[in-house]
Amino acid sequence: MCGIVGYVGHREVVPLLVDGLQKLEYRGYDSAGVVVVRDGELETVRAEGKLERLKESLTGHSLAGSHGLGHTRWATHGPPLERNAHPIVDSKNRIALIHNGIIENFLAIKHRLQEAGWSFTSDTDTEVIANLISSLLDEGDLRSAVRQTCRQLEGMYAFAAVSQSTREIVVARRGPPLLLGLGEGEHFLASDPAALLAYTRQVIFLENGDVARLTADGYEITNLDGSALERTVQRLNWDPVQIEKGGYKHFMLKEIHEQPQALQDTLAARVDFELARVGFEHFSIPVEELAAVRRIHLLACGTSWHAALVGKFMLEELARIPVEVDYGSEYRYRDPIVDESVLAIGVSQSGETADTLAAMEIARERGARLVAICNVVGSQATRFSDGTIYTHAGPEIGVASTKAFTTQLEALYLLGLFLRQARGGDLEHDLLEALAHVPQAVAEALEQEKHIAQIGRRYHRVSDFLYLGRGINYPIALEGALKLKEISYIHAEGYPAGEMKHGPIALIDDDLPVVAIATGDRVAEKVRSNMQQVKARDGKVIAVTDRDPADLEGVADEVIPVPRVPHLLQPIVNVIPMQLLAYYVGVRRGCDVDQPRNLAKSVTVE
Ligand code: F6R
Repeated sequence: MCGIVGYVGHREVVPLLVDGLQKLEYRGYDSAGVVVVRDGELETVRAEGKLERLKESLTGHSLAGSHGLGHTRWATHGPPLERNAHPIVDSKNRIALIHNGIIENFLAIKHRLQEAGWSFTSDTDTEVIANLISSLLDEGDLRSAVRQTCRQLEGMYAFAAVSQSTREIVVARRGPPLLLGLGEGEHFLASDPAALLAYTRQVIFLENGDVARLTADGYEITNLDGSALERTVQRLNWDPVQIEKGGYKHFMLKEIHEQPQALQDTLAARVDFELARVGFEHFSIPVEELAAVRRIHLLACGTSWHAALVGKFMLEELARIPVEVDYGSEYRYRDPIVDESVLAIGVSQSGETADTLAAMEIARERGARLVAICNVVGSQATRFSDGTIYTHAGPEIGVASTKAFTTQLEALYLLGLFLRQARGGDLEHDLLEALAHVPQAVAEALEQEKHIAQIGRRYHRVSDFLYLGRGINYPIALEGALKLKEISYIHAEGYPAGEMKHGPIALIDDDLPVVAIATGDRVAEKVRSNMQQVKARDGKVIAVTDRDPADLEGVADEVIPVPRVPHLLQPIVNVIPMQLLAYYVGVRRGCDVDQPRNLAKSVTVE
């Protein structure tokens, strides 16, 4: 949820930066700061908390100039203290930097820089970028130092740097959004058009791998090798509703695309990568009690229930605690066996779903400790739970849940790590590094959008779909089928792939597309033989694979590649094509994808 604003031109920069940051406040943040470049000096003011605090701090400084950067930070590496707020200045005071993203290999680079004499005063991964750029400045200009730095970074980033000696801003993007605003004798930079619309409507959306240099008089964009790139200048004639949808046609599509950011924000501040620890901010259950948990009950409805099904695999493998998963509406009427050794976890985007709340109450009445995994601050589920893990997905407007689902999966994985830690287990670095890589992997999965839109066009007229998955990806088959039903009104079923031969195989003919999730070493081969069974009966196969698509030639009619991540996290990546397919089929059929018939965002009745 970090916000980025930058300016170089003729206006007084501080009010402009603060105004831009105000437009980005809705994204949420916990500290803020600005830097102004003047007379060869980098003057920064930063403050913990809300923009009001920054404004108060600014009244004590005569910060004048027409070239600078502003940032709102949502803590990832290190708590939301002033020393961790951006802009971050390198240890030789040569450049100031603002950044949104997660640098996965920051520890390795940090150790290397420390050995070379660079010092660090913050807990952030951003300081690694600042010092690395500064260390490369002696070999060239700011732009080439930024390009060289980017070639060494692993992970996702959108950042902007200013140096004390030049009147320019250099920016780089891989993952989080970044756009340039063009004016007469002035240029702007922001992470979201909302920050720029008051000043200019001529914009360029940067693409992954772009490095851009802005001066008052112009801009240049190159790739990481320094070759010049042409990017289209767009005029944003957005009305207020389009501004709210961030330029996307539907909230659902916007929210699908917000997932890398939402995942990064949900991870934020919960993981200490240097000490390999996980912690939650709204959690009052003592560690001894968590260590004593013998059974876990996961309670949820709809898409959140699918998240709970995946959560069972995560919690059992990471914490070695047996898990039962129930629909809220079933649990409340089944006389469940609950005592003090049970940890009951309600999973709910809204925190207001009547069935889930009733199930949580029953578990609590019978002695269980209660945790909510929830997206809405202060909602009912969070008010009566002993602990809440917030999914920082931001407001989900589309009725069909997308970013809430993937962030629920991430929260369940974090909870698995937390319980493992409470029970004296080690949090190996690869468990944490895998998590840090997920937002980037999801961004890569989103790159299949055009391909999936074409598949949607080819299959939008059918009347039924079958979705197959195995193990931890069986719930993703269920979720794919649910998304399609909700958004396109096509009948769809999700099935464990190994069960197809026990019944659904009778349905297969050349009118039935079968979406097969064939990822992971242990079960991909098994799913492949299910695909062959479908092909032998003239069915159409749409396969999701983490291997070379050529391996599925002759077995699948359509292949959607996804990046491979460790198996417990693979469902977060695999659900992306399910969401996009449902969306494009629904749009093609002319359905109201944001507000499907008969559905409500929050089901507060039984
Ligand atoms: C499906 C969907 C619903 C909700 C369900 C539970 O796209 O959004 O199935 O998942 O109504 O809602 P929450 O998570 O708010 O408890």
